[in-house]
Amino acid sequence: MNAPGKLISFIVWAIVNGNCAFSAEANCGRLEERLLFRKDISTEPTEYPWIGLLVQRRDLYQKFESAECNVAIVGESHVLTTASCVRRLNNRPELVAVRLGIWDVENEPGQQYICNDRGFCVPGPVQYLVDAITMHPLADRDTGNNDIAILRLSQRINMTAYIQPVCLQPTLEPASWTSMDLHYGGFHEYDIKKGKGSVIAISRQCCNNQTGTPPPENQFCGFPYFGAAFFKGAPMMGINVEDDVPSSFYLGGLLAKNVDAGQALMIVFQDIRPVRHWILDNINSSSS
Ligand SMILES: *[C@@H]1O[C@H](CO)[C@@H](O)[C@H](O)[C@H]1NC(C)=O
Ligand SMILES: *[C@@H]1O[C@H](CO)[C@@H](O)[C@H](O)[C@H]1NC(C)=O
Ligand SMILES: *[C@@H]1O[C@H](CO)[C@@H](O)[C@H](O)[C@H]1NC(C)=O
Repeated sequence: MNAPGKLISFIVWAIVNGNCAFSAEANCGRLEERLLFRKDISTEPTEYPWIGLLVQRRDLYQKFESAECNVAIVGESHVLTTASCVRRLNNRPELVAVRLGIWDVENEPGQQYICNDRGFCVPGPVQYLVDAITMHPLADRDTGNNDIAILRLSQRINMTAYIQPVCLQPTLEPASWTSMDLHYGGFHEYDIKKGKGSVIAISRQCCNNQTGTPPPENQFCGFPYFGAAFFKGAPMMGINVEDDVPSSFYLGGLLAKNVDAGQALMIVFQDIRPVRHWILDNINSSSS
């Protein structure tokens, strides 16, 4: 092939591959810029639509109850949470389910719409059973290293305005989270509604100084602006910026634990960057 021919086939290859990557990641991480800089501590019902609640039951005859853990939708039938949220259930996926499209933890699935006394309505949450729980092979109960697990749901998720995945791929990978102002959200102990917050990520050395122990491998610490302890699994999101416009959220971390650092609360996040390949491999191998 002559040189111009090679160039043209390279361009065709690049366009085809670029389009594939785009369509695989389209409709994820919906972002509204106006919500980025408002200092609200609760979400709008359609904000962060990838966040759900993990529920569990003691045996097959019990009702599902809150496991006080958040989940994040990352694919057509997969959600992520921490390994510590599901370790005790590892061999019994039938004892866990997730509630998606949930804004108020007190709303039970099965109702089409739930309205307040001012006539403001949201759809009821939708419950999906879990088929398989896969903990990260290096998840360590004692050290807390690699505190992440993938749940495969028994059905494909029906996406709606209230139920959508977060992106997994950043357009540009930051070399470090340190000193970045990061957004996170989920359910927490002080409110029944899905909350949100932001956190300044700090260095390992500073975290060590503040808490007396360095964070586990592949985890990092941050000081939140809002002191509520969010449940484990609350996703932290980075922002993809395209043409100078914030275009989508991608998953950057999962809340692994809250630490009392003297006067203030410190959050420790599992970093998604080192485990992203493992997540993609698992989703790809078990969805087709
Ligand atoms: C998803 O939608 C299909 C088709 O409408 C329906 O049969 C199925 O029950 C829905 N799944 C859930 C969990 O609601
Ligand atoms: C950690 O504490 C030591 C001793 O107090 C201090 O010298 C050092 O600067 C601190 N490092 C950070 C990153 O805060
Ligand atoms: C998984 O599949 C997606 C879409 O087909 C692809 O873009 C991605 O590279 C795959 N990831 C891995 C790790 O194979």
